[in-house]
Amino acid sequence: MEETEKLLQFLQKEGFIWGPEPEIYGGKAGFYTYAPMGKLLKNNVENYIRKHFQEENFWEVECPTIMPKIVWKASGHLDSFTDKVVECKNCSSSFKADEFVDEINVKDLKKFFKEKKIKCPNCGSVLSPDLKEHNLMMKTTIGLDEEAYFRPETATTTYLPFKRYYEHFRKKLPFGVFQIGKAYRNEISPRKSLIRLREFIQAEAQMFIFEKQKNSFKKYEKYKNLKIPLLPEEAQGKKEQAKKITLNEALKKKHFKSKAYAYAIALTYELFKGLGIEEKNIRFREHPSAEKIFYAYEAWDLEVKLNTFGWTEMVGVHDRTDYDLKQHQKFSNQPMSVFNIENNEKEIPNIIEIAFGCDRPIYALFDLFYDVKSREKGKTIFKVPVHLSPVKIAVLPLVNKDKIPEMAESIYKELNENTDLTVSYDDTASIGKRYLRQTMKGTALCLTVDYDSLKDKTVTLRERDTGKQIRVKRKDIIEKVNLFLKKGKF
Ligand code: GLY
Repeated sequence: MEETEKLLQFLQKEGFIWGPEPEIYGGKAGFYTYAPMGKLLKNNVENYIRKHFQEENFWEVECPTIMPKIVWKASGHLDSFTDKVVECKNCSSSFKADEFVDEINVKDLKKFFKEKKIKCPNCGSVLSPDLKEHNLMMKTTIGLDEEAYFRPETATTTYLPFKRYYEHFRKKLPFGVFQIGKAYRNEISPRKSLIRLREFIQAEAQMFIFEKQKNSFKKYEKYKNLKIPLLPEEAQGKKEQAKKITLNEALKKKHFKSKAYAYAIALTYELFKGLGIEEKNIRFREHPSAEKIFYAYEAWDLEVKLNTFGWTEMVGVHDRTDYDLKQHQKFSNQPMSVFNIENNEKEIPNIIEIAFGCDRPIYALFDLFYDVKSREKGKTIFKVPVHLSPVKIAVLPLVNKDKIPEMAESIYKELNENTDLTVSYDDTASIGKRYLRQTMKGTALCLTVDYDSLKDKTVTLRERDTGKQIRVKRKDIIEKVNLFLKKGKF
């Protein structure tokens, strides 16, 4: 069995991910349920991203996920948001063409299929080199018959109330907003677990900024000496490794076109390091011109090196210029230019975005923090950073008699009432088995109530990764737990 399939089966058993759904009807690729543990983890990842954006003065909004056709005509998605498809003439299967190759342009793609005679993964016949375009938009109707589409990105829906933001933020640019919400893409044949979904969560931050402000952007100064691993376009053909250079050098070498864009790169990098992903497993890869999406003037992806899929895109950072607002001005007949006090002129602002597919970093956490070998032996620790642990603390009575459960239950109640932590209670099986059960799910701490607890009002706190235990007075539990969650150790 492939490692990805083994990982998925494990995640299903541990209550992280179920699917593809609807499982009882055979399942459709690209649709998954976040099971109880997975949903807690997902909330923690989303809240972590939310907090990170908020700290940088981005404000959260929530826009509708369905928009009428005209919005997508204006945004360009209806005409240009397509994938190249390769077909099997024998068994009629279709596949996303670029999944068979790496980093080459469209012209080469046709040539590639002609020359390499790639075989159909389903029936083994040679795939046809006549590529087709497949639009990724999910279609629906509003009311009886008005053509409409589910959003393929949160970004476009964030841009539509631009004039409202302008008033709200007191007519002062730059300002930032973000959404964390569902997006939909009608992928042809998604086969990569949570990495390629048809319904997924995006966290997308948008900065509205006048063109001239992009290179006098003060927040950049804080990050200018930050070293970032970059793989620019010219290094990709030569199969070079990413090189770490400061943002300042990257600007000098013209890898980035503006300070504001470099700042967005820095934010993204810091955010991923905060997810506990080691620097050696992170790089930024420039989109070669042929790969660049239609709205992007400047585009780099943050990629993470996964055990299962190798280097994989997690985030796209795009300078979308004034493209989107100009298009919406044209199609809606509503002016989008606003007054720039710095040069006394009316201008349509530019937009720089940080576009996350949230399910991907979640998958990266599974991939990187579950040790494959010990998983196979049925003994593994989900070493996810404790601030992201689905359950923060499990309360375990040593035995189910002699007033021990009463004390454990009252501590459980106290933790629920007096903290925001997710707490669980487990009184089945031996204590050893319960520790294992909790560490497999990534629970940060186990709290055990035993016979000594009854005598001296202390409990044991057991750390997930090392098994280290400390004895804590009942009245100090919350303080100790919070300290542990902050530092990641006692
Ligand atoms: N908003 C950019 C993206 O969906 O990738």
